[in-house]
Amino acid sequence: MSDRRPIGVFDSGIGGLTVLSALCCHLPEERFVYLGDTARLPYGTKSGETVTRYALRAAQFLAGEEIKMLVIACNTASAAALPALERELPVPVIGVVEPGARAAVARSSGAIGLIGTESTVASGAYQRAIQVVGGTSIVRARACPLFVPLAEEGWFDHPVTQAVASIYLGEFCGTVDTLILGCTHYPLLKSAIARAVGGGIVLVDSAVAVAEEVAARLRTDGTAGEGGGGRVRLLVTDAPARIARIAALILGDDTPPLQLVDLPL
Ligand code: DGL
Repeated sequence: MSDRRPIGVFDSGIGGLTVLSALCCHLPEERFVYLGDTARLPYGTKSGETVTRYALRAAQFLAGEEIKMLVIACNTASAAALPALERELPVPVIGVVEPGARAAVARSSGAIGLIGTESTVASGAYQRAIQVVGGTSIVRARACPLFVPLAEEGWFDHPVTQAVASIYLGEFCGTVDTLILGCTHYPLLKSAIARAVGGGIVLVDSAVAVAEEVAARLRTDGTAGEGGGGRVRLLVTDAPARIARIAALILGDDTPPLQLVDLPL
């Protein structure tokens, strides 16, 4: 039997659209409701306690939309709040850190680097996840806090982004073979990041690995939503007109209208 309930997906802003995009490609018959918590962005410079509080509000809001599964399309929230969200929600919860760690270990022959928000890097979540999936340790990790506002501005491949990437990432050249893009905003800046680290370093993000994990879980649980066609709803907690412009750069012509919603603090 087909389960037509939507899958909830959330991030602090537009970054999670990189995950949503992979989910839509991989699972074209599923319905999705995406929440960008733009009123509270960025999450990545805040404490783990604050991020957990924000993530719980976002997840509870989506639970009210009758979702069948929650995807935390945010590394910062996955690193800080996955156990809390698993405890609170009555549906399966999938984070992005473990799938990202698995993808990196599969691609690397040993020397893995990590870039992410300050909160994700400080949490040590990737280090732990890499050990769980049997990899060696991360040899170098760096927070890149300016990347999120650059992505939110739509400056995906802009000279300023290139300059910032070169300053942040020079230290990875020649020291790692694989670099984890440990923030869902970063794949939007992939061209600038790739140029800054030079050839020979594989850039890994978790979007496709997450989509595969969601597909596998839907199969195991018997909750796949075949038939009836896919559909996406986009919700934000602030500035829908501004975000719509950037969302269209990521999702293209099929970008649905953005709806403003309010989350209690
Ligand atoms: N996109 C989010 C992540 O993957 C966080 C961006 C932010 O709000 O700082 O960590």
